[in-house]
Amino acid sequence: MRKKVTIAGAGQTGATLAHWLALRGDVDIVLFDIVDGLPQGKALDLLEAMPVIGSDAKIVGTNSWEATKDSDIVVITSGLPRKPGMSRDDLLKVNAGIVRDVTRAAVAQSPNSILILLTNPLDAMCHIALHESGFPAERVFGQAGILDTARFSSFLAAELGASVADVNAYVLGGHGDDMVPLIGSTNVGGIPVSKLIPAARLEEIVVRARKGGAEIVNLLKTGSAFYAPSAAIAQMIDAVINDRKRILPCAVYTGDNAGGYGVSDLYLGLPARLGAKGVEEIFHIDLTESENSDLQKSAGSVKELVDALKTFDPPMLP
Ligand code: 2OP
Repeated sequence: MRKKVTIAGAGQTGATLAHWLALRGDVDIVLFDIVDGLPQGKALDLLEAMPVIGSDAKIVGTNSWEATKDSDIVVITSGLPRKPGMSRDDLLKVNAGIVRDVTRAAVAQSPNSILILLTNPLDAMCHIALHESGFPAERVFGQAGILDTARFSSFLAAELGASVADVNAYVLGGHGDDMVPLIGSTNVGGIPVSKLIPAARLEEIVVRARKGGAEIVNLLKTGSAFYAPSAAIAQMIDAVINDRKRILPCAVYTGDNAGGYGVSDLYLGLPARLGAKGVEEIFHIDLTESENSDLQKSAGSVKELVDALKTFDPPMLP
């Protein structure tokens, strides 16, 4: 039986994710939004494109949670995007309430689903979804590392005039301005990137990757990036529904120091194997001293947000 994927939020990211999934045509898609007509209109338009591209994807738009019943995967994109000058963290309070409500409604209909989060600030929002769903952590995770790595990879490929297919990069840590591109683990066609690009230029590329989301927010002026974030989620969905065992950087729960990075009880971008059950394992990459100290700093930034959620009135986390 075809898997059912609900996309909560029919904004730019949700609708573009529906587009990527419909092109692949291997899942039934429910596009949910609270705005009357928006998900219905986008879903119908997309459905009408299917004869042109030859896909039998089923796409339904709805304002009713009942229509999402028994989804295998629920993607949560709901929430406000950044405006120019805002950090992802500035969205904490408003998006925490939205993610809480969406998680409750989604899991009431789909108690056996896997939740994939996209709403910012991403790592903190994963904590809300984990808490509200009561799901095991392997069924609650977030998209960020694939996007951050893709940005870094595309800049490296452009710098070297190389194919993106030959860039093997990794960006770990929280999905914030102190995310951690791993120079030590990045190669192009097997050649360490530090041998191909001078250190000072590499640092500029690292900074651009870290600020990649803001670069697009500043260009768009209204809204944030959506093509690359939604493409990244489509890849995660593919890994889950086809049990592909892909090892991808995702926002995952470290529990009791999973992966051995010295970080516990926190969502953080780390390499994880994704399969039918969700996050199957978190892997360790040997970090250089400075990469490790950057990762601890990034984890500290995520923890600050998580701690802030505990101080809200009423608290968003226990
Ligand atoms: C980004 O980095 C929206 O957080 C997303 O573009």
